[in-house]
Amino acid sequence: DIERRVDALLKRMTLEEKIGQLVQYNDQGFSAPTTANGDKVLAANPETRTQVDAMALARQGRLGSMLNVIGAEKTRAFQQAAMNSRLHIPILFGADVIHGYRTIYPVPLGLAASWDTALVQQLSHMAATEATTAGVKWFYSPMVDISRDARWGRSTEGAGEDPYLGSAMARAYVRGYQGSDLSQPDSVAASVKHFAAYGAAEAGREYNTTDMSDIRLRQVYLPPYKAAVEAGAATMMSSFNALNGVPATADPYLMDEILRKEWGFDGFVVSDYTAVMELTHHGIALDAATATKKALEAGVDVDMMSHFYDTQIPRLLAEHKLSMATVDEAVRRVLRVKFALGLFEHPYAQGAEVTHAVDAHRPLVRRAAEESFVLLRNAPVAGQPVLPLGDKVRSVALIGPLADAANEMQGAWGGATQASDVVTLRQALERRMQQRGGRLLFAHGTDVLSDSSAGFDAAVQAVRQADVVVMALGESAEMSGEAGSRAHLDLPGNQQQLLQNVVATGKPVVLLVFSGRPLVLDWAAQHVPAIMAVWFPGTEAGNALANVLFGDVAPSGKLPMSFPRAVGQEPLYYAQFPTGRPAGDADLSKPPGGATRFISRYIDVPNDALFPFGYGLSYTDFAYSNVRVSRRTLPLAEANRPEARSLLTVTATLTNTGTCEGTEVAQLYVRNLGASVEQPVRRLKGFQRVTLKPGESRQLRFELGFPELSFYNVHSRQVVEPTHYTAWVGGSSQATAQAAFDIEP
Ligand code: IFM
Repeated sequence: DIERRVDALLKRMTLEEKIGQLVQYNDQGFSAPTTANGDKVLAANPETRTQVDAMALARQGRLGSMLNVIGAEKTRAFQQAAMNSRLHIPILFGADVIHGYRTIYPVPLGLAASWDTALVQQLSHMAATEATTAGVKWFYSPMVDISRDARWGRSTEGAGEDPYLGSAMARAYVRGYQGSDLSQPDSVAASVKHFAAYGAAEAGREYNTTDMSDIRLRQVYLPPYKAAVEAGAATMMSSFNALNGVPATADPYLMDEILRKEWGFDGFVVSDYTAVMELTHHGIALDAATATKKALEAGVDVDMMSHFYDTQIPRLLAEHKLSMATVDEAVRRVLRVKFALGLFEHPYAQGAEVTHAVDAHRPLVRRAAEESFVLLRNAPVAGQPVLPLGDKVRSVALIGPLADAANEMQGAWGGATQASDVVTLRQALERRMQQRGGRLLFAHGTDVLSDSSAGFDAAVQAVRQADVVVMALGESAEMSGEAGSRAHLDLPGNQQQLLQNVVATGKPVVLLVFSGRPLVLDWAAQHVPAIMAVWFPGTEAGNALANVLFGDVAPSGKLPMSFPRAVGQEPLYYAQFPTGRPAGDADLSKPPGGATRFISRYIDVPNDALFPFGYGLSYTDFAYSNVRVSRRTLPLAEANRPEARSLLTVTATLTNTGTCEGTEVAQLYVRNLGASVEQPVRRLKGFQRVTLKPGESRQLRFELGFPELSFYNVHSRQVVEPTHYTAWVGGSSQATAQAAFDIEP
């Protein structure tokens, strides 16, 4: 039915109306840019000097989609104009709703630390129900770029370093946004981004180039995009970077061969912001017309903000440099999504507009924040772990620039949220200490980025009067996200000095690290008894933190990215490839000498992460035992079939050996030896969240089939080969309990 409607409409459209479906502007339309970079925009496309009036285009039925138009009143005005145009084709309103619209949950990297896909699906649906009340029917999310380099600021927007976890998260977001029926009024179309391999930007520098083998591309970077497509994602966004010398926005290998032909994707692709124009900066197009032709023919259907498609397509057609069929195909893809969304039936904002955080949504985003926190260290002071804060704690000193910073709690892309809706840690702890008849002493200490130590004395004075100190340190929200690359990964400004001054008082310190990425915490790991990574927790930040600090909830998050010991280790990830000179059991904390010199190592820092992928503590302890495989051998012919599932089961016993209830994320890793191409030392192939009471045990089961046992060979084919497998089950990528099996020829 949709195809029939698309065909019928397409036949009635003028060229101008067709091109209109392929351009995207914000409510400012397009103004000739005035920045230094803007001059290059002008040079690349002299027609850009023409101002574009988005409302005028909408009235003429020549504006297919709009970005980041916030508020029902605004979207309604544009939509009314479009619906009154000749063919009544609705505008699709897209927005960067990345981790909530008005009620904000943790940044995606934090959410990934929960390893809770059901929760992610629920939250995504919640965000859709809020945004659709303002007419937004399309989210530029999920960002599924694998990020293995903490310098890259956009790490905060994805699920971290691992393709298996990343794929699980990608599916959850798409299902949450799109629901089981895209045409429902509260469903939104996902735009999976950024296609592809943007997370591998060299040296972690934003917008930088990427270069990698096809094996790495397919094995590490593509799986989450593919998972999202298989989950039914309606649209994709092409990325800014070049991949192996070809800018992704003009890459037919990515968008035509892989995305459309191999994966059968039939939605549309939108460029990233001015990415079509940027093809001229990449140097693969000398003029606007060539950039347009390359992007459109490669498979970018919609031009976001370049003002190239509308100025260049008519010219290219007139000069016979572009076929009408290519234009029609792009329009077809856009219309297909609009029909699938039911936009023609309900083009306007649905229901009462949500303009503030929704009280009924607070428990869910609070739980999300609680699940996202990763307890990195909890050493005993006077025989007791510092956390949770016990009954004896009568006074707490709360120190740091992030303790009372409502705006920062929302992280990068904080949606259309209002800072006044956010509960800060200071507010929550004040309430909590009052209820307990205790005292909260607060001192700001310093700013996130400051070299003034003017506030240090007041902070130390507050600390001296308290039983325990909670420090809220880290990055500001804008230090990560787009254009947030860093070359240093330490606590910014003079926060490290503040921390050291406070620790020097001898009071027990709990360090809460707010960040959009892994930071280097080597000093803290040696001197601060309790450390928790809390990312940017969202609207309910303070309440969630108070609940975990006081032990109402035990932390259960596990790191989705390795925390390095030093920036020089980046890119750092657990799924390393073996080398011919493995470090083995050598003590890498000691300087090299003799046999420990000519091995793959640094001379000044151990190879491994300070806190590895998958790692995170609870207030209780867990033990793994009895790891078994259901079969010791598996015939190749049985295993090497793409449709093969549940070929073999790995089981293990998980026991809560501590004294309180807790949730563990149990993880399964495999390694195979003897394959035609070398394989990582470990690869995550299963995980589950399990809640256990003290003393309680649970039998864990992980199914392995073709998707888990296969890998890509030198011919870019996904295969299972006769190899020897080890499977580990445990609470981090350093799990030790193991079993083995073989795939036999
Ligand atoms: O969706 C974003 C993208 O992730 C980065 N550039 C801008 C787009 C639209 O705001």
